Amino acid sequence: MMSNIKQLQLELGTRSYPIFIGSNLLSQIDLLPQYIASQQVIVITNTTIAPLYLEKLKKILASYSLECVILPDGEQYKTLNYVEKIWTDLLDAKFNRKATLITLGGGVIGDMGGFAAACYQRGIPFIQIPTTLLAQVDSSVGGKTGVNHVLGKNMIGAFYQPKAVLIDISVLKTLNDRQLSAGIAEVIKYGLIRDPEFFEWIEKNIERLLAKDEEALSFAIERSCLNKAEIVAEDEHESGIRAILNLGHTFGHAIETGMGYGVYLHGEAVAIGTCLAADLSRRLGYLNDETVLRIITLFQRAKLPTLSPEKLATDRYLELMSVDKKNIDDDIRVIILKKIGKANLPIKVTTALLKETLNGYRGV
Ligand code: NAD
Ligand code: GLY
Repeated sequence: MMSNIKQLQLELGTRSYPIFIGSNLLSQIDLLPQYIASQQVIVITNTTIAPLYLEKLKKILASYSLECVILPDGEQYKTLNYVEKIWTDLLDAKFNRKATLITLGGGVIGDMGGFAAACYQRGIPFIQIPTTLLAQVDSSVGGKTGVNHVLGKNMIGAFYQPKAVLIDISVLKTLNDRQLSAGIAEVIKYGLIRDPEFFEWIEKNIERLLAKDEEALSFAIERSCLNKAEIVAEDEHESGIRAILNLGHTFGHAIETGMGYGVYLHGEAVAIGTCLAADLSRRLGYLNDETVLRIITLFQRAKLPTLSPEKLATDRYLELMSVDKKNIDDDIRVIILKKIGKANLPIKVTTALLKETLNGYRGV
């Protein structure tokens, strides 16, 4: 193992797996093969990532019987139709249960590929190679896989853990600024929900992250993955503490679905959603004005939107939030911040209070 590669472990008993973080991992020929179960390997990627990184991966996989599925790029294609295309290609290639599926891409490819792997012949091994900051700090770790439905974001899916996660920081060089910021939204989330020191570190280092300083990115990715791995190890199937990873997501998913998938990036919707959750936490008496301002300011400095889309009416928000996975019966449940570095498990919030936030929040 090369010394510049960091390794974390997500502890889940017999399903534990390593998370490797380093530069140029896509050129390390000895890393990937140990997690591949047989000669049959299928890579899932998209039309943007394939021309950038597929050849590199193919070099490492030169000795395998390799299939590549190149999907169209975009959140709007994160549907069952395209997962079915993956299954058809697997069947066409006569791949069996020992075939290994590798996802090379952002959260959309990782979620779809993981779901395809979870269901194909009732489950085949898969490996995540996340290529966006968002996927490197969040979606590739923890085994949430799935697709969108017209009636709700990520509503169809499965918990299905990968065999390994390979995070190559070098691929972030080709990521555009908007996507980078979207990833930083999830990095900020870890500071807010359980890691106040990390929140302060982000405040001090946000410019370095935006400038893609490798050392800063490496630290932020490792600390984010560590936070996520600890939470998932404690509560893999989200019966408790894992729900705090959804800070801002109840509002955020409503924005993504309500505005049309792909209009707001996931991280952008989460940034706005977290500002709304902070406003709600203030109305509930947990946060003071100064803390809410500090949170909004950090998102703004990360070049993320912090205001709710004007087009999304309050009633539509409430309708969309009523299909959130955290809800129980007809109650809308939201993650609340008690302070920076401490999130509360989802609590039932009255419609009247939600309306106060949705109508009253105006940013800084
Ligand atoms: P994405 O997968 O759409 O990728 C963003 C864009 O960046 C795409 O156009 C992609 O082709 C491009 N891209 C990817 N890597 C690149 C690179 N290295 N260089 C240049 N361009 C590159 O979006 P995302 O933000 O990575 O992921 C969002 C998705 O992840 C959403 O569907 C969200 O629901 C899901 N998500 C899942 C989890 C989970 O736990 N499973 C957590 C958070 C988000
Ligand atoms: N991204 C939220 C989770 O993995 O639980």
